[in-house]
Amino acid sequence: MSELLDRHRAVMPNWMPVYYGDDALEIVSGSGRRVTAADGRTYLDFFGGVLTTMIGYDVAEISDAVRRQIGTGVAHTSTLYLIRQQVELAEKIARLSGIPDARVFFTNSGTEANESALLMATNVRRSNQILAIKNSYHGRTFGTMAITGHRTWSSSSLSPFTVNWLASADRLRGRMARLSDADLIEAAVDDLREVLATVTAGDVAALIAEPIQGVGGFVAGPDGLLGAYRKVLGEHGILLIADEVQTGWGRTGDHFWGYQAHDVVPDLITFAKGIGNGFALGGVVGSATVMNAVPAISFSTFGGNPISAAAGNAVLDYVLDHDLQGNARRVGTILLDGLRALDHAIVGQVRGRGLMIGIEFVRPGTTEPDPGATLRVFDLCRAGGLLVGKGGLHGNVLRIGPPLTLTEEEAREGLTVLADAIAVADGESVF
Ligand SMILES: Cc1ncc(COP(=O)(O)O)c(C=O)c1O
Repeated sequence: MSELLDRHRAVMPNWMPVYYGDDALEIVSGSGRRVTAADGRTYLDFFGGVLTTMIGYDVAEISDAVRRQIGTGVAHTSTLYLIRQQVELAEKIARLSGIPDARVFFTNSGTEANESALLMATNVRRSNQILAIKNSYHGRTFGTMAITGHRTWSSSSLSPFTVNWLASADRLRGRMARLSDADLIEAAVDDLREVLATVTAGDVAALIAEPIQGVGGFVAGPDGLLGAYRKVLGEHGILLIADEVQTGWGRTGDHFWGYQAHDVVPDLITFAKGIGNGFALGGVVGSATVMNAVPAISFSTFGGNPISAAAGNAVLDYVLDHDLQGNARRVGTILLDGLRALDHAIVGQVRGRGLMIGIEFVRPGTTEPDPGATLRVFDLCRAGGLLVGKGGLHGNVLRIGPPLTLTEEEAREGLTVLADAIAVADGESVF
């Protein structure tokens, strides 16, 4: 065990997990899609600090933009003064959002972005009733935990909202398993109608949904599901909030936003993680009517400050100038096809889109989750020089979310490590 891990454990709370147990990694430098750890080993990074290092490490365009801002001597002014970088970034996000007459509010995190969206939705609708999806993750405050449908991440039942739940679209087990896309959408819409008719009290403020559930193990409903929900929501004036904290900026390859697979435009979109490529930046974008509904002064001291906004502009320009959405689609297809071609009894499902790919591990011949095999593959990947993530309701999903700049060669290199790791774990599994 490293001396730093000892010190970490002595001073940090024990509910904040660190990967690799006693063999925890300290990343000390990075370049492109690779990081070097304190032990001198270099790893190909397929997780990007939880889908956050979206462009990669040591990217000149981003570092230069941040250095230029630091060079002015101004790291912070507060939003009491005009911030040119922030206005520019808001203009770009408003334009890209697909929402007419959009306004943008910047925050420091995805949690705070969702809190803000909920603040607006509950105010404009004068209701504290929220619909959320099981197996979701939306953050770590009381409000966002209340709408998080994942026991592992819910450490308090205190809630400012009355929350009612819709089923997740898990196709491997549970009530939606093995339904065709059309049947699933029909069942989900019936479920929504039933929830609205039976357990809500009058007007519901909003439904919040991740187009692809991130922490939940990259579970997603069929294309069109959010649009189908929206038709019913529209009958009641209920708003739709898309949590794009993981799915935004082209990561899914086919679309710039995850919601675009669903034939719908949400009322509010929340974002964070990738847009700062590591600098703390999040926010919410929505129509002026909804965004302006907050009936008191509100501001975020650090949200969209000159440094993070400079980073955000550089990141967004990079994504668009280099067509990283197209790259996510191309390179993601190599990964998805390669993983789907593997034939191992412990692999229950390979799913995903673009550079957001999940591999779910099960006991051979069943759909019973196998977190042990997942951990084994996860550790073997690290031994083979590849960093990946874990997640899913049962801790049995390997999560792959590399920087969107991943090259085809790097995708094939990572695929080889993954294939070897899965083959070893499969060989060890007891039938
Ligand atoms: C979909 C989604 N929403 C919200 C959050 C919360 O973001 P943050 O950790 O920046 O508060 C996360 C974090 O993983 C997330 O994946």
